Amino acid sequence: METEQFRQFGKTAIDIIADYYINIRERDVLPSVLPEDFIRLMPENAPESPEKWQELLEDFQKKVIPAITHWHSPQFHSYFPVGVSLASIVGSLLCSGLGIKGSTWISSPACTELEVVVVSWLAKMLGLPEYFQNTAAGPGGGVIQGSASESTLVCLLAAKHRMLREMKASNKEIDEDRIKTKFVIYTSDQSNSSVEKSGVLGSMITRLLKTDNNGQLRGETLKKAFENDKSKGLIPCYVVASYGTTGTCAFDPIDEIGPICREEGVWLHIDAAYAGTAFVCPEYRHLMKGIEYVDSFVFNPHKWMLVNYDCSVLYVKDCFDLIKTFDVKGDIDVNDEKETVFPQYRYWQIPCSRRFRALKLWIVLKIYGASGVRDLVRTQVNLANHFASLVRGDSRLVIEPEPSMTVVCFRLRKGDFLTEKLLEYLVNQKKIFMVAAIFRNHYVIRMVICSQFTTKDDVDRSWNTIQDGVNYVLSHSHRFNHRKSLLTNRRLSLDIERV
Ligand SMILES: Cc1ncc(COP(=O)(O)O)c(C=O)c1O
Repeated sequence: METEQFRQFGKTAIDIIADYYINIRERDVLPSVLPEDFIRLMPENAPESPEKWQELLEDFQKKVIPAITHWHSPQFHSYFPVGVSLASIVGSLLCSGLGIKGSTWISSPACTELEVVVVSWLAKMLGLPEYFQNTAAGPGGGVIQGSASESTLVCLLAAKHRMLREMKASNKEIDEDRIKTKFVIYTSDQSNSSVEKSGVLGSMITRLLKTDNNGQLRGETLKKAFENDKSKGLIPCYVVASYGTTGTCAFDPIDEIGPICREEGVWLHIDAAYAGTAFVCPEYRHLMKGIEYVDSFVFNPHKWMLVNYDCSVLYVKDCFDLIKTFDVKGDIDVNDEKETVFPQYRYWQIPCSRRFRALKLWIVLKIYGASGVRDLVRTQVNLANHFASLVRGDSRLVIEPEPSMTVVCFRLRKGDFLTEKLLEYLVNQKKIFMVAAIFRNHYVIRMVICSQFTTKDDVDRSWNTIQDGVNYVLSHSHRFNHRKSLLTNRRLSLDIERV
């Protein structure tokens, strides 16, 4: 492709994106396609001869767009938000435009150094402990990873390595291979499934501990689990607590969990993938009481902070725990105090190479400012509260648990079966998209304010759609076959958050 063609292609693509967002309300949130419809539209083989970019964009409009779920529709209320902003799209474009790969400092100095700058800015914006700032004294710092799942795995591997080093320091004769099989990871039964996946990937015994009536992992429960495992000769090694569980956005009490982990020398990691962004607002910082006990903390600007996927920021108290685990060549001097301001980031992560993701973050922070992010959080929490007040006004529905951040869970008083039918009915209508969670053995529908474009009128529109669904389901309840799902194809079925 010639540069002049690129200019036209790129400008047209930008126009398409701009129009897509301007007209986002005109589309149903869910596409009207069945599995494999899209594959059938595509040729069996790649084109032999080059095609024109104009034809390609026509295909994009006619074939791709009708087969996507519109995550930024104001009626998208599923999962958690996925970050996007027009500013961040430009950041992604510039990042791709430069086409660089940062693996060492010299491979692109700005790629490393801008990351050091923006993750330090973020640590201050969220009010995290000073030792997480790369630019502060000490071995702590932040790094951009691809996902919270990766960050949780990276810290699991580092926790395992640290525990082994400490055990070897007191007994050189230990059988490393045998000891490693005794390490245990603990998390709550409400944590994201990525934590359990880390346990599988890191070959560690995993305990999903029971939460209390608010979906929180209590210190007492953790302590008992440690004691139980120790009595069997197992070794507590890694705890993942949540600030904002995926199902109901519960916050684990770190002031209870932290001292127990510290006493046992167990690595404590916080998964704040979605809700971490809320700490830009000082009024939410009481929820991070006990943060000083934490070894690592991850949150995803690619969820609630307007940054396009992927951008997950991981903070560690001691970067040498990562380096000692991943620097298999022994490149780094572990006494180098400059490592946090001049990091060889490839030893803080799994891949060798890395994208210039800091560019997106930098652009978003500059274009929106910290106040822009605070406004987004506050506006969306207010919208969720508005929705909750509408639900509370309808005696056929009950909210459970109490709303947290932008997550409002509700169910029909008439029972779980009809609540499930309500969700299926609504999803089949394609005007609104929500998923379910199980809370205290009840099937609840999660309504999350996700799109940055959602206004109070949009929430009212979603509420009207839900009320129509409630009317329909309650007036047709006798017709539902108690075994057969309303959904015609289970591939379209809804994810249910962990029981
Ligand atoms: C609390 C929590 N942790 C982790 C994840 C996984 O995030 P990622 O896709 O960045 O791995 C999610 C996804 O929604 C989540 O809600």
